[in-house]
Amino acid sequence: MPATDSIAQSDAWRALSEHRGQFTGQTLSQLFAADPLRAQRFSASAAGIHLDYAKQHVTETTLRLLLQLAETARLGGQIEALFTGACVNRSENRPALHAALRDAPANPGVAGRFRQQREHMLALAADLRGGVLTGAGGLACTDLVHLGIGGSDLGPRLAVSAFPRLDSGPVRVHFAANLDADALAGALADCRPDTTLFALASKSFSTLETLSNAGLARQWLRAGGIAEADLERHWIAITSRPERARTWGVAAERILEFDEGVGGRYSLWSAIGLPVAVALGPESFTGLLAGARAMDEHFRTADPQHNLPILMGLLRIWQVNFWGHATQAVLPYAHALRLLPDYLQQLVMESLGKRVDQQGQELSYATGAVLWGSEETNGQHSFHQLLLQGTQVVPVDFVTTARAHCAADQHRQLYANCLAQSRALMAGRSAGELEAELLAAGEPRERARALAAQRAVPGNRPSSTLVLESLEPRHLGALLALYEHSVFVQSAIWGINAFDQWGVELGKQAAAAIDAALTGGDAGDLDASTRALAEIWQSANAEPR
Ligand code: F6P
Repeated sequence: MPATDSIAQSDAWRALSEHRGQFTGQTLSQLFAADPLRAQRFSASAAGIHLDYAKQHVTETTLRLLLQLAETARLGGQIEALFTGACVNRSENRPALHAALRDAPANPGVAGRFRQQREHMLALAADLRGGVLTGAGGLACTDLVHLGIGGSDLGPRLAVSAFPRLDSGPVRVHFAANLDADALAGALADCRPDTTLFALASKSFSTLETLSNAGLARQWLRAGGIAEADLERHWIAITSRPERARTWGVAAERILEFDEGVGGRYSLWSAIGLPVAVALGPESFTGLLAGARAMDEHFRTADPQHNLPILMGLLRIWQVNFWGHATQAVLPYAHALRLLPDYLQQLVMESLGKRVDQQGQELSYATGAVLWGSEETNGQHSFHQLLLQGTQVVPVDFVTTARAHCAADQHRQLYANCLAQSRALMAGRSAGELEAELLAAGEPRERARALAAQRAVPGNRPSSTLVLESLEPRHLGALLALYEHSVFVQSAIWGINAFDQWGVELGKQAAAAIDAALTGGDAGDLDASTRALAEIWQSANAEPR
């Protein structure tokens, strides 16, 4: 791999910069008018997902140049390095083993251990669902409260909420992530101490939020009459640091492990997925893995020009580095996928929010964009005005399903709305057309012109549409793996490490120092603003209220 910044000095990068100029004055509508086969030419399918990127500013030349850029970055070799367990996470000197969690064949060295870890997790889930795990009073556990945050929360929370009708188990699953004690209180609202089991899900087993919630949960159990000797019947741990879980008080046989080489935001496929197996059954969890594995195989073997993760990753490079789009929206047309944007925010922004390359050199070009989104059609009544008529262009990934995942009429209308929005972004509505309509309707010329200007939609705004064959675990697994690998493609082209997250450490250290200051300790040299804000808390909490 050449020195990172050479990618911006490469011929392919320069050619893409020149090629960008060809789109000046050319609209997406004109591209469609010029090529009746555009939709077929700029779409691809794999693992139950259809990707239509014809509403992006791409031509055959664009694709050719983007693929040349991938060649320059030796993307193929980097993909092989990822799948074979090479040290792709250089700052932490680790591989990235998420594909091996779904039995990707290229890394046999860890396959046996990962299978054992998965079987341990599935056996514990079966014991829980089968009433074998009992609380202090000998009653079967009825509720699992999953305590985790970030990658130890978002994946299982998304997967469990995506399949409400698949709920095939007797155990209710709840999630609490935030340090705010209200989050745990809400999760415990309908739980009984004697039949509640807590999963302490923390790869590091040192995260403030999770350990704080675990402490509150322990108090709740005690207050509910659980004797000290029986507490450990109400814990399990999911972690890469079993020794820390043991010290905390979790019994060895109740510690589910996963490897340090599995990144937190890539860990749904590990024992972190326990809530999925408990709430939806083992076959739903293995279904997620099967879908992700199908996407892994596609990513490793498909020709780049038909390779969904490579196409999506390269399109993001095109949008960020050659069109200057600093944010991207992911808009799922399914209530069941309402947590998809939250999940992808961590996956994309914690992986690609980097400003130096793997050698520590500061980069001269943009990298990770801001990812945001919400369930649809809610967003159509919230932020679509900006998408359609604002001054900022926001590339959109629309996500929808072909087969109904809800009542048939509503699903058909959902699908129609999804297509309507991508079409409106692309085609828009010209002021001229609108003015002619208003004049024909009898509006005076001046008023017709003024109204037309307000109502015109510029169009020519890019989007891709991802259609899942149906909403089932294997297609969700394929979708999440698609985004994981699209992120990897971007990181490989940019030369950045997708698998570390050093930035978040500073905030954690600062919080500990300021917390000390709030309780009268020495916080070191705080700036005047932070000191003044700390004093507000101190004066508000000085005297007993
Ligand atoms: O945000 C930092 C981070 O380390 C994430 O990468 C991770 O998913 C989350 O905190 C939780 O970490 P842990 O699983 O170690 O508690």
